Amino acid sequence: MEQFKGQPRLPKFAVPKRYDIRLKPDLISCKFSGSVSIDVDVVADTRFIVLNVANLFVNTSSISFTSRTSSKVFQPSKVEIFEDDEILVLEFAKSLPIGEGVLAIEFEGILNDKMKGFYKSTYEHNGEKRNMAVTQFEPADARKCFPCWDEPACKATFKITLDVLSDLVALSNMPVIEEKVDGQIKTVSYQESPIMSTYLVAIVVGLFDYVEDHTPDGVKVRVYCQVGKADQGKFALHIAVQTLELYKEYFSMPYSLPKLDMVAIPDFAFGAMENYGLVTYRETALLYDDLHSAAANKQRVAIVVTHELAHQWFGNLVTMDWWTNLWLNEGFATWVSYLATDSLFPKWKIWTQFLDESSEGLRLDGLEGSHPIEVEVKHASEIQEIFDAISYKKGASVIRMLQSYLGAECFQVGNLEQLSYSTTISIEHAFSNAKTEDLWAALEEGSGEPVTRLMNSWTKQKGFPVISVKVIDQKLELEQSHFLSSGSQGDGKWIVPITLCCGSYDDRKSFLLETQSVTLDLTTGTRDSWIKLNVDQTGFYRVKYDEDLASRLRYAIENKYLSATDRFGLLDDSFALCMARQESLISLLTLLAAYWDEHDYIVLSNLITISYKLERIVADAIPELLDFTKQFFISLFQSSAESLGWQPKAGESHLDAMLRGEVLTALAVFGHDPTLDEASRRFYVFLNDRNTPLLPPDLRKAAYVAVMQRTSALERSGYESLLRVYRESDLSQEKMRVLGALAACPDPNIIFEVLNFLLSPEVRSQDAVFGVSVSKEGRETAWTWMKENWEYISDTWGSGHLITRFINAIVSPFASIEKAEEIEEFFESRPKPSMARTLKQSIERVQINARWVQSVQTEDHLAEAVKKLATVY
Ligand code: BES
Ligand code: ZN
Repeated sequence: MEQFKGQPRLPKFAVPKRYDIRLKPDLISCKFSGSVSIDVDVVADTRFIVLNVANLFVNTSSISFTSRTSSKVFQPSKVEIFEDDEILVLEFAKSLPIGEGVLAIEFEGILNDKMKGFYKSTYEHNGEKRNMAVTQFEPADARKCFPCWDEPACKATFKITLDVLSDLVALSNMPVIEEKVDGQIKTVSYQESPIMSTYLVAIVVGLFDYVEDHTPDGVKVRVYCQVGKADQGKFALHIAVQTLELYKEYFSMPYSLPKLDMVAIPDFAFGAMENYGLVTYRETALLYDDLHSAAANKQRVAIVVTHELAHQWFGNLVTMDWWTNLWLNEGFATWVSYLATDSLFPKWKIWTQFLDESSEGLRLDGLEGSHPIEVEVKHASEIQEIFDAISYKKGASVIRMLQSYLGAECFQVGNLEQLSYSTTISIEHAFSNAKTEDLWAALEEGSGEPVTRLMNSWTKQKGFPVISVKVIDQKLELEQSHFLSSGSQGDGKWIVPITLCCGSYDDRKSFLLETQSVTLDLTTGTRDSWIKLNVDQTGFYRVKYDEDLASRLRYAIENKYLSATDRFGLLDDSFALCMARQESLISLLTLLAAYWDEHDYIVLSNLITISYKLERIVADAIPELLDFTKQFFISLFQSSAESLGWQPKAGESHLDAMLRGEVLTALAVFGHDPTLDEASRRFYVFLNDRNTPLLPPDLRKAAYVAVMQRTSALERSGYESLLRVYRESDLSQEKMRVLGALAACPDPNIIFEVLNFLLSPEVRSQDAVFGVSVSKEGRETAWTWMKENWEYISDTWGSGHLITRFINAIVSPFASIEKAEEIEEFFESRPKPSMARTLKQSIERVQINARWVQSVQTEDHLAEAVKKLATVY
């Protein structure tokens, strides 16, 4: 039996075809019992059956295998569970007959509190605490609910039956076909599912209300919410119905199940999960309250719903072959969610906001500790870590790059062929799921372009290029090199789809850069003729311009010749180059000054993010310049703050509503007194009347941050009032707004209290991780606090991905080599495989910051430049 240990994948002596699962969850004792009969096909001469199981008590004497051909019953001679490998090995005395048979197993388990497998979530109903039972199986936790072949390619059909208390709502992937009540218990049976992967199986049992609608094709769509809050589901319901129609067109294939349920779960590890026909969500990602949700909350709901519904085709119908191809699932769903959201809400200009995704992808991929999009996965424990910005954001960005290179139509046709091709395959032979190569091959055929070669350079190696652009003898020279934030040079090479414009958006060139460098014959004349590469920022690379070209671009920004997306790109690239010490801080700040009259949401919000980071670097490097720097930032944001004003304007745009909140938050963070005064005035009105028009949801984050800015150990009343808002609200989005602001306090004593509050029973463990981003003054306190509480933190969040947020938020802000060493040392004796990669990346960020600080300290004329900027603007 030992031969089965330590293998990344199950042996396929026998493969599952159909699961008949019966589960009886007890929501009071938090236990469940179950049985499963699995139709399997024995395909090889074997005495063994190996399948996955974890954290279940398997009743070994219940296990039997009944051959369909001979009706003979076989009992295993030996049963063993290997806990590390999460497998159950059954050994039989004789070889099993080739062909079909039924494997039956009984088992018991516990509804855990770790938000994975079959778990409990808690809520209040009529003032009483209640439990609900929920499943979260992706990537590899179906095995914690029933024994199974828990790999995405092992597709089968599922017939589920639940025994639950008769007053509860019990949901699964498929519609109910029968409900039998026997005393207090009802037995609910669901229609058999189509062929699908185990990670998409789902069950939810609890008390809910719902709203319902249907598509023109008669697909019944429901949103399930807390009892009494069904209205909050209406917005998501509306989006879901429209999105199903949209995708039916886009994928040329209707939604494949008779119903779609979407449920808000109070304790949820991720944003949402695309279970086939039963999508589960964190409350903040599904519910929308007309009075208390902000524009940003609305947008989040739209993006998440469209993302999960994209998976109903891409992921659920056509499934990745193995986790190495996860990015195809997530990258594509992310990309399509923007497509759908853009079509539903064109005024949101959501594609410009896609740049935030690319920018985050670039930020992570600029680290030496990054990884290729397609990454080898050798053990189940490694799967979780690849649900990161590389799979999602770089994945979506390279799809967008390809799409913009091939053209929208070509892309859709190619994708379609791919989709139907793999579906047929996976129905006929259960093991042939989608692979990245299949997609490229289909697109290559459709377009006649070298798609495979092009895309391999982006998915099989980590990192991305920076294109250096120079004017030499009236010629334009382009050269690619591997960009690293550390300032070193990597050895990657890419096939880069280059686009460029000279002086006007009508004059656009595009070609593939396949070599190290290329020289272009261009007339690069006067000051007006700016040259911008990566037009509209559809390419996943950065661009570095020579002095002359950079100054022409600054001029173009000041004179508003450039699109918002290009203004975003110049800023983002310049910041990254500065951090990598390839550009001086003076030059970055001079560029920022060109944005003095910026009013576009996406550009300003990136400018704000960058200003927060620069504030920290200046505080570390040259504290005597901190006040000047803040002054400079305040003046940069003031013109848009003034034109937006505090009070929302009737009929104003979604983007203006979001921008107002961000700009005012920035002014509060930089200590702008008039903003702090006004915020505080409005906050106290709000405290007495939560529905006051003086503090609409879009303004609240700014007001909360302002209140915390003025809080100290001696002046605690603002902080305590905010805790009251937290306690008195029963809307998760409101609670998150408060949590996100609490640590924005300059007093370390308060920070310490806030951090302890996050660990208290008042904060759900799903939410605590969003409160740990502390003010720059609280950095050391947070680190000390984390060390002191490490055991608890590691026990509570250590097995999931949420722990990576703790590490990233608390470790990354440091900026000295000594600190990097101290952090490394602390974790050396406390290794955790689930966060190994994040830890390495965070430490690398500290080292990058440290070198950046050193280089800023030695920069000539910096003080004069900063003082000048602070007074001129
Ligand atoms: N399939 C994921 C959920 C998931 C993530 C399962 C990680 C297992 C591990 C789902 O489709 C998803 O991507 N959710 C995102 C939201 C989305 C809008 C980017 C999430 O949960 O953050
Ligand atoms: Zn997803």
